[in-house]
Amino acid sequence: MARLLITGGAGFIGSAVVRLAIARGYEVVNLDALTYAACLDNLASVADHPRYRFVRADLRDRAALDAALATHRPDAIMHLAAESHVDRSIDGPGAFVETNITGTYNLLEATRGYWQAAGRPGGFRFHHVSTDEVYGSLGPGGRFTETTPYDPRSPYAASKAASDHLVSAWHETYGLPVVLSNCSNNYGPFQFPEKLIPVVILNALAGRPLPVYGAGLNVRDWLYVEDHADALLRVLEAGALGRSYNIGGENEARNIDIVQKICALLDERRPAARPHSALITHVADRPGHDRRYAIDPARIRAELGWRPSVTLDAGLAMTVDWYLAHEDWWRKLKARAGVGERLGVAV
Ligand SMILES: NC(=O)c1ccc[n+]([C@@H]2O[C@H](COP(=O)([O-])OP(=O)(O)OC[C@H]3O[C@@H](n4cnc5c(N)ncnc54)[C@H](O)[C@@H]3O)[C@@H](O)[C@H]2O)c1
Repeated sequence: MARLLITGGAGFIGSAVVRLAIARGYEVVNLDALTYAACLDNLASVADHPRYRFVRADLRDRAALDAALATHRPDAIMHLAAESHVDRSIDGPGAFVETNITGTYNLLEATRGYWQAAGRPGGFRFHHVSTDEVYGSLGPGGRFTETTPYDPRSPYAASKAASDHLVSAWHETYGLPVVLSNCSNNYGPFQFPEKLIPVVILNALAGRPLPVYGAGLNVRDWLYVEDHADALLRVLEAGALGRSYNIGGENEARNIDIVQKICALLDERRPAARPHSALITHVADRPGHDRRYAIDPARIRAELGWRPSVTLDAGLAMTVDWYLAHEDWWRKLKARAGVGERLGVAV
């Protein structure tokens, strides 16, 4: 499996996969439309590598997908490109339907044509990367398994759930060799500064309020992005055809605890007149805000021998240190439209 085409490789998780795949010896073709969420600087360390190629193409443009596959002839595709921000999906769900559902359909059809024309090579893989948000919301107990019924509750989650179903159907109906994975909230270096953890770090550094939705009691299972990239390559290489794998960080935490931990890390590294936690400000909750997500990682652990390597405390410390050391990177992104504004309150 030498040549891997990655969609969305200029995004947060995609760029981590591109960097890791290059380090592991793959040839990588990164296909990305470069939306507001993309950042080619994430790929500076591999941009000139002889095994790296970039193709600017949009999932909504079927002809561009056909051309990219015909030109680059990948042995596997890992599909990460998506509209990914829940708050933006509340304000503008149309883009989520177009990219996440229709775009995935276009990619599946382009892939099917390419794979059939190539004589249906048995080793080919289409890996669809999805989210645990498709499962809906948990109460205080229980965890999501791969057989938990889908119950998406935001336009983002519904669009990802639809794309998962399309991928499974293309396997059952056309025999396309697919694997799927659904993972929990990622965090780490290069995360776009509109998601919770970078927002908190950057607002705290600026002495600005730290917005916590509602009481901050929502629980997420936090996965360090480089662990996720490692798990994705493992699923691609060893996952069973047609099977999905839940990927979690084994790090459940309430949002308010995440914010408090970041404040404590910054109190040590950048002491201010008052503790950074004095900036915490509770704001109106997100409509339909899921209460708790938690991944049961038993399948990926038992079948693929994978488990996360980074604890939440270690990962948060590495992340805070990375943002402190990469001000040039995040300053440019904060200047983009809508970044730093409260989104997703319209109902
Ligand atoms: N971030 C998380 O915590 C998380 C958790 C679970 C699953 N996921 C899934 O992982 C994937 C990657 O997430 P991320 O956080 O890295 O996203 P991101 O928003 O950082 O990056 C998405 C990338 O996709 C590209 N893209 C968007 N629309 C496109 C289109 N129409 N055509 C081509 N490229 C397009 C963007 O330019 C960007 O580079 C997504 O499928 C997301 O649903 C993310």
